[in-house]
Amino acid sequence: MAFYLLLLAGGKGERMKSKVPKQFLKVHGKPLWLYSLEAFHKAIPQIKTIIVCISDYQSQLQKDLEYWGYEAVVVDGGNTRTLSVYNGLKHLAAHPCDAKALIAIHDSARPLITPICIQNAFEAAQRYGSAVCVVPIRFALRKKHQNTTISVDRSLYLEVQTPQIFPFEPLWKAYQQLHHRTFYDDASLMEAWGYPIHLVEGDPYNIKVTYEKDLAIVEALLNA
Ligand code: CTP
Ligand code: MG
Repeated sequence: MAFYLLLLAGGKGERMKSKVPKQFLKVHGKPLWLYSLEAFHKAIPQIKTIIVCISDYQSQLQKDLEYWGYEAVVVDGGNTRTLSVYNGLKHLAAHPCDAKALIAIHDSARPLITPICIQNAFEAAQRYGSAVCVVPIRFALRKKHQNTTISVDRSLYLEVQTPQIFPFEPLWKAYQQLHHRTFYDDASLMEAWGYPIHLVEGDPYNIKVTYEKDLAIVEALLNA
């Protein structure tokens, strides 16, 4: 069984309002994207990695990979997350990739993913054909409705995280057909294509660095 990590570092991080895109900001001297790469290697030492990266940061990324002793193929990002994933899969399709190989798609903006969570997700994907990390909603939710809002039952909802793991063949077929549409995540695209989604328990601390202050939270959690 072949295992791949498709690490997404192709975004500009507009909500973060930082000059350097968030995935390249450093915490304790390491770029943010490196934390999840390390966690995946701890979980699956033989894992192969493709990093989707914005063009301006590819040479720095290559230097950092060498410095920290990791090998990865680096490919261009796209204008949307969906197109970035498509670009990564296109690279895999152009090289011999086992149809059953499991591809874990992961946001580089989620540096706190743990090796345990990754191992559980890969095991579930092997067993059930896919694995999408989710956690319960821990806050009250309201839905926008006309000019007002209404409270909704939070137990009916789940927060979706990454990694999201699928076998290469259906993943590539689905992305070939649907990459021109924009999806928030891979599970939504696969579901729209008609593929069954198997949920696994994520980790409440597997947060996605989105706003400026999230970086301080990550720093504190790493210290803890
Ligand atoms: N991503 C990507 N290519 C894009 C957009 C996003 O590879 N065109 C990646 C980001 O680098 C990030 C992950 O997808 O690791 C989740 O996206 P998000 O948190 O939305 O990051 P950005 O799109 O960069 O941030 P923003 O939406 O605030 O601009
Ligand atoms: Mg975005």
